[in-house]
Amino acid sequence: MRIDIFSIFPEMFVSPFEASIIRRARERGLVDIQTHNIRDYATDKHQMTDDTPYGGGGGMVMKPEPIFAAVETVRGDDPCPVILLSPQGRVLTQAIAQEMAGQERFMLICGRYEGVDERVRERLVTDEISIGDYVLSGGELAAMVVVDAVVRLLPGALGYEHSAAQDSHATGLLEGPHYTRPPEFRGWAVPEVLISGHHARVDAWRREQAILRTLQRRPDLLETAPLTDKERKWVQELLDAEQAPK
Ligand code: ADE
Repeated sequence: MRIDIFSIFPEMFVSPFEASIIRRARERGLVDIQTHNIRDYATDKHQMTDDTPYGGGGGMVMKPEPIFAAVETVRGDDPCPVILLSPQGRVLTQAIAQEMAGQERFMLICGRYEGVDERVRERLVTDEISIGDYVLSGGELAAMVVVDAVVRLLPGALGYEHSAAQDSHATGLLEGPHYTRPPEFRGWAVPEVLISGHHARVDAWRREQAILRTLQRRPDLLETAPLTDKERKWVQELLDAEQAPK
């Protein structure tokens, strides 16, 4: 996979991409991530990347020419998704990350200031992604989030010891609790079933815990989660019991 990132602060990406899973994926040749400084494509004397908005008002707007020049130069004749990070985009989900993990190549444009000239959105960008309903100072941190969520899904990115298939959200449910040694810490014991060595019981317990946790924290997810009829019935019983007068 090839990812090109366009930003006026490419130095922000150095350390996050040199650690952990992303580093390993790069070293294994699973992903080639290139950052590009939009300023390098500005042709005026001061290499301006922003300007005041037409119609007045505060703030600055990112100019279209350097962004078009940067993307078109790097992309060449090879069409690929060009994604703008902005609080106005569709909100990133595991399903979107999975869809992106299937792409051969994509580009990320990091907006700054009050926004980018609308012609970038209309004529260059193919998709717009937000990482949540809050406003960041720019798209850089959002681009890092997208890259992390996508790269860890590439086959071979996670070690054999971990599979993304059981992650929270990958199953449509939140994951249940995890424990490691010691079996007792300050008098707090690990659930007995986990120490039992009984794999079928462990799997059943984990599934139950995932459903319970999702019910407690994100009941909205249960509406679309792939539950069996038996599990749905159990969830309904739990809900009914909760509503019953004590
Ligand atoms: N740029 C500013 N805020 C953002 C957000 N929430 N998601 C993506 N890009 C952004």
